[in-house]
Amino acid sequence: MRIPVIIDCDPGIDDVMALLFAFVRTELDILLITTEAGNQTQAKTTYNARSFLSYMNQEIEVARGLEQPLFQELEVAEDVHGESGLGDVIFPEPDFEESSRSAIQALYERITKSPEPVVLIATGPLTNIGALFLAHPEVKAKIRYISFMGGAAVGGNMTPTAEFNVYVDPHAADIVFRSGVPIVMSGLDVTHKAFLDESDLKEIEEIGTELSDRLVELMKFYRRAAKQTAFHEEGFATNIRLHDLCAVAYVVEPNLFQGDDCYVAIETEGKLTKGTTVVDYTQSLPYPKNVHVLHTVKRKEFVDRFIEAIQKAEQLIKGGKRDV
Ligand code: BDR
Ligand code: CA
Repeated sequence: MRIPVIIDCDPGIDDVMALLFAFVRTELDILLITTEAGNQTQAKTTYNARSFLSYMNQEIEVARGLEQPLFQELEVAEDVHGESGLGDVIFPEPDFEESSRSAIQALYERITKSPEPVVLIATGPLTNIGALFLAHPEVKAKIRYISFMGGAAVGGNMTPTAEFNVYVDPHAADIVFRSGVPIVMSGLDVTHKAFLDESDLKEIEEIGTELSDRLVELMKFYRRAAKQTAFHEEGFATNIRLHDLCAVAYVVEPNLFQGDDCYVAIETEGKLTKGTTVVDYTQSLPYPKNVHVLHTVKRKEFVDRFIEAIQKAEQLIKGGKRDV
């Protein structure tokens, strides 16, 4: 049986890589895609989702999320993802409209109607999911777990300690992390190990299709913004980190990853630490473990699966609608 999933995303260059991977993995039954304001404004991320889905021949409902984080102003990542949110790459105009339902309404209805509990894959700020839990707390019982790209046990990418998706809406993240729904966190600890190096990029270039050309262009754009981090990784300036792909890959191939169960809390106030995921590896706080925190990935296998996905995605573009 296929795994019913909903993808909440803010495309976003690495979000698009994650979507592509999800489209080709037939283990997944994608019920809905909802969009977050994050890497770019809500209007842009929703447009990007629709245009990428159209390009990939996917017939999946796309529902627009909230325009702003719950209790603060939106900060977009234009320096990393560009003015459009997808670097300099232009995908064709979308060939379908966005849903007439809001993301919150669509999430609520899809989750409640699903006969099986749903896996939520979240690759942007958690605004929609936080708002959903406030408005309809009963849906929590129908969510198997949330596979979330965000946070970091050690070292952020927006501030010294905060990762972008949590930093943009820490209050929503706080609601979600305290919700009692199981969470698998692909934070920077693991996503910085989930990278493409120069030779992987060359391998993708050699596929030589219009899709692979576009992906390579996107990734080269993305790489320009690579920052030094607490990880001191070799090749940090040339490696391309596929953050969001981890959250999808975990759902289909959890064995590629390793992690630990920990108590994790969100810092919503700290003068220097707002948006930090406080990961209690030391077990010094008297609270139950609420998150499975990933820290390791089998990089070679992970990259191989991604490259296979790019090759297979060609069939989707050439007309084969996804088997829905
Ligand atoms: C996360 O922030 C966004 O810019 C990426 O799409 C990813 O979801 C990485 O910190
Ligand atoms: Ca993202």
